[in-house]
This record gives sequence, C-alpha cells and structure tokens, in this order.
Amino acid sequence: MKIGVTGATGQLGRLTIAKLKEKVATDSIVALVRTPEKAAGLGVETRAFDYSKRDSLAASLQGIDKLLLISGNEVGQRLPQHIAVIEAAKKAGVKQIIYTSILHADTSSLGLAVEHLATEAAIKASGLVYTILRNGWYTENYTGSAKGAIGAGAFIGCAGNGKIASAARVDFAAAAVVVLTGTGHENKIYELAGDTAYTLADLAAEISRQTGKAIPYNNLTETQYADILKSFGLPEGVAQMLADSDTGASKGGLFDDSKQLSALIGRPTTSLSKVLADAIA
Ligand SMILES: NC(=O)c1ccc[n+]([C@@H]2O[C@H](COP(=O)([O-])OP(=O)(O)OC[C@H]3O[C@@H](n4cnc5c(N)ncnc54)[C@H](OP(=O)(O)O)[C@@H]3O)[C@@H](O)[C@H]2O)c1
Repeated sequence: MKIGVTGATGQLGRLTIAKLKEKVATDSIVALVRTPEKAAGLGVETRAFDYSKRDSLAASLQGIDKLLLISGNEVGQRLPQHIAVIEAAKKAGVKQIIYTSILHADTSSLGLAVEHLATEAAIKASGLVYTILRNGWYTENYTGSAKGAIGAGAFIGCAGNGKIASAARVDFAAAAVVVLTGTGHENKIYELAGDTAYTLADLAAEISRQTGKAIPYNNLTETQYADILKSFGLPEGVAQMLADSDTGASKGGLFDDSKQLSALIGRPTTSLSKVLADAIA
C-alpha cells in the first residue's frame, strides 16, 4: 500500500513523514511537494505536486492508495486548489482521502472555516472514501509569539476569555499517521483538539511562570490587534485573519473537550507548558 502526503515540505507535512517512517516501509511513502528543492532531506520518494497545476496532479498520484491532503496556505485560493486535488485523486484511483480541516468546520465562526467546509463538501460529493481531520489550533500559533511578548512586556490578542483547546503540530501529525496506517476511520469526521484548554491570560501567566518576569495579557479590540499585527509587518490579509481567528476564539471557536485527539493517538496531547518551554528555550 502506498501513502501519499501533500504539503510534505511544510511543518505538519515534515512531522507526518517522519512519523510515517517509524511505522511503515520507507518505499511505501510518497512525498507530494510544491517545491522539490525543499524536499531533499525527507528520505522518501518525492513527486512534484502543486495544487494550482491541475493537469499534472493525477499523474503524480498514480499508485497512491491513501492520500493525506494537507490544506494549502494560500487563503482565498484553497477551494479550487483542493477541488483539483480531489478530482485528480478520483481520476488516479486513490482509495481514501484524508483531509486536514478546521475544528467544528460546520459551526465555526472563524472566517478560515469557509474554505474548509466547502472542501469537506467537495470530498463528500466526490464519492471517495474519506476521513476528515478537523484540526484545532496549533499551540505553536500562540507560543510562537511568546518571545516577542517577553521582549515587549505583554502578550496581546483579542481572544478575551475564550478557552483554547490547542494541540501541538506533532499531535496532529500523530493523528494523521494513525489514520493513514490503520483501518476503521473510513467516512469519519474527527474533531481534534488538546486535552486541556487555556485562555490567553492563562498563557501569559505560564510565560510569566517560566521566565520569572511578569507578562500580563492585554486584550485588545479586533481592529486594534489587526493594526498592531500590520505594524509588525504582517500582510493585511494575514493580520485580519489572525485577528478574526482570535475573535472566533473569544466565542469558543477554538474550544472542544471531546478528547478525540488523545483517544486517536493513544496518549495525552502535548501540554502547553512543554510547547511553550520549547518555544522560548
Ligand atoms: N490548525 C492550525 O492552527 C493551522 C495554522 C496554520 C495553518 N493551518 C493549515 O494547516 C496546513 C498545514 O500547516 P503547516 O503548519 O504545515 O503549514 P505550512 O508550514 O505553511 O505548510 C503548508 C504546506 O502546504 C504547501 N502548499 C501550499 N500551497 C500549495 C500548493 N498550491 N500546492 C502544493 N502545496 C502547497 C506548502 O508548500 P511549500 O513547502 O512549497 O511552501 C507547505 O508545504 C496549512 O497549510 C494550513 O492550511 C492550520
């Protein structure tokens, strides 16, 4: 059986390939990559695979039985890109498609959910056997800002008191590998989130505890937060998307307590304190 992983040179893709190599023969893994020059160290067969190059996709999927479609990062262009991959998978005879969606895609108030929900619908309409991994927020999205917060003396955001059940990328990669290498996940949707939820004030308190410096959480309005992110040099669309996601979090959009992720991977999810410690080491 051959397993294909798209976005294999991205952060989640690399972790997934590494974990797959621990579980199955290297020659049964195919890394599908947009940028072949980034794939040198993966240690598995590599095939060119750009979601935007619709006509080339089916050829690259020949012989693939299970395909992990890692959602692209070109927000706004992802639906036609993902549809091109789904159509190619069908044409190439892929037996199961596994897609990384967003937590509670069907009810989420996050703007990011729109493309994911439409992709899920396209997968279901294709008739392919599927598994939807509705991935929650990466803990690294927030811990990646910790060093900046320590330097600035405060952690900022607009998530209010929203509880965030994030998990480490390595946990989501482990879940993908369980589905890619096991059975019983056909036509299922998993809501994947961390075991323990926290607010951004809790995160700031944990940064304070680990550094011995008082780092408060300053809650801003969505506009203030987006403006500050833009002033850091983030493109307007990215700044707005991050601020919108924090607003979504304030309404519970990043919360889930079903513990399906730890059940799937057979261990507790990685703690916030561990991911934070790694980020500020
Ligand atoms: N759950 C969350 O908190 C969260 C946060 C951010 C993003 N995401 C979503 O989860 C995905 C994986 O996360 P990540 O951290 O691994 O993101 P990442 O490091 O940005 O990796 C994204 C991967 O997608 C590939 N890609 C983008 N557009 C493509 C295209 N047109 N054709 C083929 N490949 C394409 C990239 O290829 P290159 O290596 O060539 O650039 C890269 O390998 C993201 O793409 C995004 O959809 C989730």
